[in-house]
Amino acid sequence: MEAQKYKRYTITAALPYANGPKHIGHLAGAYIPADLYARYLRLKRREVVFACGSDEHGTAIANQAMKEGTTPRAIIDKYHELIKYCFDKLNISFDIYHRTSEPIHHQTAQDFFTVLNDKGDFEVKESEQYYDEQAGAFLADRYIVGTCPVCGNDNAYGDQCEKCGSSLSPDELIDPRSTLSGNKPVKRPTKHWYLPLDKYEGWLREWILEGHTEWKTNVYGQCKSWIDGGLHPRAVTRDLDWGIKVPVEGADGKVLYVWFDAPIGYISATKQWALDNGKDWKTYWQDPETKLVHFIGKDNIVFHCIVFPAMLKAHGEFILPDNVPANEFMNLEGDKMSTSRGWSIEMHEYLEDLPNKIDELRYYLTAIAPETADSEFTWKDYQARVNNELVAILGNLVNRVMILMHKFFDGKVESTTGAITLENEALNTELGKLYNDLEQSFESYKFRQAQQIMMDMARLGNRYLTEQEPWKTIKTDPEAARTALHNCLVLIGHIATCAQPFMPGTAQKIFNMLNWPADAVHFDEPISFANGHQLNAASLLFEKLEDEVIEKQVQKLIAKKASIEKPAEVSAPALVPAKENIVYDQFAAMDIRTGTILTAEKVAKTKKLLKLTIDTGLDQRTVVSGIAEYFEPEAIIGKQVSILVNLEPREIKGILSQGMILMAENAEGVLSFVSPGEGMHNGSVVR
Ligand code: MF3
Ligand code: ZN
Repeated sequence: MEAQKYKRYTITAALPYANGPKHIGHLAGAYIPADLYARYLRLKRREVVFACGSDEHGTAIANQAMKEGTTPRAIIDKYHELIKYCFDKLNISFDIYHRTSEPIHHQTAQDFFTVLNDKGDFEVKESEQYYDEQAGAFLADRYIVGTCPVCGNDNAYGDQCEKCGSSLSPDELIDPRSTLSGNKPVKRPTKHWYLPLDKYEGWLREWILEGHTEWKTNVYGQCKSWIDGGLHPRAVTRDLDWGIKVPVEGADGKVLYVWFDAPIGYISATKQWALDNGKDWKTYWQDPETKLVHFIGKDNIVFHCIVFPAMLKAHGEFILPDNVPANEFMNLEGDKMSTSRGWSIEMHEYLEDLPNKIDELRYYLTAIAPETADSEFTWKDYQARVNNELVAILGNLVNRVMILMHKFFDGKVESTTGAITLENEALNTELGKLYNDLEQSFESYKFRQAQQIMMDMARLGNRYLTEQEPWKTIKTDPEAARTALHNCLVLIGHIATCAQPFMPGTAQKIFNMLNWPADAVHFDEPISFANGHQLNAASLLFEKLEDEVIEKQVQKLIAKKASIEKPAEVSAPALVPAKENIVYDQFAAMDIRTGTILTAEKVAKTKKLLKLTIDTGLDQRTVVSGIAEYFEPEAIIGKQVSILVNLEPREIKGILSQGMILMAENAEGVLSFVSPGEGMHNGSVVR
């Protein structure tokens, strides 16, 4: 098998920002898959380090502290503890959960920077950047808002307009303002260190596009489009006082960019783990016989596939990732998961409400893992999976076999022929095939499939038990009943072994019932009972989830979202500032008329555009309007509106648009037509 070319494994999962709680989408995207892989490798007796930790620097944390009147330290301490606690409860088996605020990490990141700096790998450039004089801080693009030059949205960010999707630079914004103070920022010159990604383009093309065609299509595709789009130098320093000081003389007030230091956090975490466990961290990061795999969500692909590898390559002493099996996103009950909008299930919330349903969550999140496309968590589906799969298939098999063993044989495994193994050829062959497929699935990061195969083993057991009917044969041929149940027991031992990565708590419970030491279990060391082996009492593995429990969670979710949507509070600061005065002639030059929408249809391949035909009284004309996200075409036909008719015609998506429909927009971005009152014919002048 290909995997044999590696001697050991370094497994990482994206360091979560310690600026808030993390939700189950994060869990499904990175932490569970990483844990499954690490646990699988340990079952194969491979040498593994599984490293993660909190990402504790960055502008976001610094600004959050400023806004909340607290310190970055207070924020990271709070959330580091919360996140670590949750991972622990959810049985994510990190070998170390570190922090980027630790001195060993600061040192490691600075050393890394220094190596690159000494080799002359950076470009150092001075440029003008926006500065907020009141807040006394340079402003990252995200912290500048202004009017979008493309669509006129007044709350476009310095890096992107979320209304029309245009990617922007802060310089393009009309009337820029700082989100820290609301003031107009000024330009100030400042010096920064840039990683010249453009110089790595050829190498990245070769390494990824030619050398890693086996990467998941979503990952490979994103890499390809980044590389094909052209790579540019990226600043790896920031003007900020929260973070890792740039280790260069005269660089006061500058820190390493958070995306420069965070991935180095994987290395520092490994160092700390090695120190604690008498290992040599270098073999895990520098020996080509080590397989490095990064587990992340899709928003992190560019950093893990392009930027960090370029850094490692530039440094020269490190191995590169063998794979980056990034996942897509998991939606929740029909909408995007979002902590800030209150549409989420945070890890700690789940743990508070359903503390005894850890494996149920792990199972469901794996069953619907967004491995190839976005997926969807619904409480109803969660309930169905638990009841119809965990309870009805796995729980049922284990329960029936245990009860029958106790009822017929006092829970004692006895045989005249020595050790008890699987003595049924058909079963053996089928199981061997499933094992093989299961390992194949793990090796290729198809964890959904691997879990299904584990459940197929349980299905196999149920079928066999039903065929054998030991509850009947016990009266006619007790030895046949005994053999059938023994076979089931051995099979259950295998299932528990294969279930261990997915549901470690459940596997442990099964091993307890079997009276078998869980740590002894490995793929190459299946359970075989000695003559006279005594089983422990049966206990239920899973309970059926009742409707009330599920209904309560759905209600809670809806209530949480509603409690966060408090529009009155945000409307004041979001009001668009008044514009400069104009002279009357400028107004009089506009020919605004009332008209009626005759037809409306979506413009193909766009999200926002509607193609409208308007009766303007003067003529019937076509207008393309960016309102498709707010209005269904059918709902607006017949509506009277105001239209600017003498706007220069413009081609939009191949359609000639003649004029503009006037809309009112409130602070929450809700749109409404500006319609005339009663009794206005089409073509009436608005003045
Ligand atoms: N904190 C980042 C996020 O949540 C992930 C950092 S991953 C690392 O998106 F590689 F930089 F550590
Ligand atoms: Zn825009």
